[in-house]
Amino acid sequence: MKKILDLISLQMQQAFEAAGYDANLGKVTLSNRPDLCEYQCNGAMAGAKLYKKAPIMIANDVAAKLADSKVVENVTAVAPGFLNMDLNKEFLAQFLREMAADEKFGLEMPQSPKKLMIDYGGPNVAKPLHVGHLRSAIIGESIKRIVRYAGHEIIGDIHLGDWGLQMGLIITELQERQPDLVYFDESYEGDYPAEAPFTLAELEEIYPTASGKSKEDEAYKEKALEATFKLQSGVRGYRALWNHIMAISVADLKKNYANLNVEFDLWKGESDVHDIIPAMAQKMKDDGYAYMSEGALVVDVKEETDTKEIPPCMILKSDGAALYTTTDLATIKERMEEYNPDKLIYLTDKRQSLHFEQVFRCARKTKLVSPETELMHIGFGTMNGKDGKPFKTRDGGVMRLEHLLADINAEMLRKMTEGGKMDAAEAEETAKIVALSAVKYGDLSNQASKDYVFDIDRFTSFEGDTGPYILYTIVRIKSILTKYVQGGASLDGIQIQAPLTKHQKDLMIEISKFNAMMEGAYEECAPHKICAYIYDLCNAFNSFYHETKILAEEDESKKASFIALLVLCKEILEACIDVLGFEAPERM
Ligand code: ARG
Repeated sequence: MKKILDLISLQMQQAFEAAGYDANLGKVTLSNRPDLCEYQCNGAMAGAKLYKKAPIMIANDVAAKLADSKVVENVTAVAPGFLNMDLNKEFLAQFLREMAADEKFGLEMPQSPKKLMIDYGGPNVAKPLHVGHLRSAIIGESIKRIVRYAGHEIIGDIHLGDWGLQMGLIITELQERQPDLVYFDESYEGDYPAEAPFTLAELEEIYPTASGKSKEDEAYKEKALEATFKLQSGVRGYRALWNHIMAISVADLKKNYANLNVEFDLWKGESDVHDIIPAMAQKMKDDGYAYMSEGALVVDVKEETDTKEIPPCMILKSDGAALYTTTDLATIKERMEEYNPDKLIYLTDKRQSLHFEQVFRCARKTKLVSPETELMHIGFGTMNGKDGKPFKTRDGGVMRLEHLLADINAEMLRKMTEGGKMDAAEAEETAKIVALSAVKYGDLSNQASKDYVFDIDRFTSFEGDTGPYILYTIVRIKSILTKYVQGGASLDGIQIQAPLTKHQKDLMIEISKFNAMMEGAYEECAPHKICAYIYDLCNAFNSFYHETKILAEEDESKKASFIALLVLCKEILEACIDVLGFEAPERM
């Protein structure tokens, strides 16, 4: 379906043309004086110079051509030359009927769908998930869903941090504690036990302990580096331990992400590209891109137009070890060979911007990607506490994701049980659903690149620009629809009719913006646009609801038309929250 503003503009262009003026002047926008009119066109002002005529005369000529328009009504020329207008009510109703009949509510599907890959989540195995990883998961999941909704193919990869020093640290600490484990016996040739020599709880304690020790004890750090090296070069016992660490951590990660309603198509990680690094580095050398500098292998990536210094991209350290840039480059190579995507999107904290700038430039220069491949890094801001500083626990430590979610769940549960309307089990179930909307909406409603303040009180409020407010509105609509059906009426065959009141029309106009909004959200990878849309939509619905007797309406056909409007409104809100990555409960 065409966008409503385009349809109105088209009508305006025809009017300009019919009145003898350039059609291009007929661009229509939403009114910036909603108290006066719904839409406006400033084309007559621009035409004044062109035609050496007073703008108001042009505007009058054009308005006269629109007197009988089926698209707009009340078209008036206002000094000095604005064209103000409202939308024709029957036209609006017809537009909404077409939306209601379309699976995607009028969003046009691409002629040739693209293939994208998105790299998000990015947790580091064996290190606890913290709030820093929360944004990547929430925003990435939503962008993945937006792309899919827009009709393109997208593969989501978690890209685990599973190959770094943290693995060596854990192995070192295990060896300190249990030196007799068979994994450390280099002469052992048999099978290793199926059962890991540690539990998840132990693992979660081992890493911070080891990390702390390595910061104080040089020798310990040396050992950890050596263990990392041994692991990476394939020492059997170390690989076996690594497999145990992976199995336990990944199971825990899967549980955590499932709670967040985040699903990855691929669970690949840095370790997966280990074997292809030597050949990649060699080829970069052979092709003349990489050279030795102070013992390290590097590729220059600075460009003449740079305003800031972009250091060379390091491929191998002087000891031959791979770096974060190396695994990212090798992963690009692998992704291109295996999936050949049109576009790669990465979601990390914006402090990694330079890293991605170097990696992208190096990938282009060394031809790991084709010239058309789009590479995009979405760097997000920091989630701060109410004090404006990065989010911490009360005792000042880094906030763990599970604790943060538990806090919000508890606050939500308190609110749910306050009214005493729900039994304990339902309250708990509902609190979880609503809490997730609070966290996700609180995050997604901000432009990703900005820092934002995580404020539990505000996020969990049922009023204002919050997830729970959106869900509350959906639940309200659902309850009206249920009552309508319980009253013996059917939802089949009912049709949206022309609006009877200003509140109804305002609601219908908000709804009509859907396809334009969703297209913009896709093109700009911008979930916040969806949040802004559903917030306006919920406000428009609630005004309509407070001003209108819906179920009490005596005229059955009017009532049916209200209900049809509610059905569309609900379906659109549900489609929107689904792409944002949360859902609505039955009651709340
Ligand atoms: N594991 C990394 C971190 O915690 C994030 C990985 C992001 N993805 C990537 N391809 N570099 O910072």
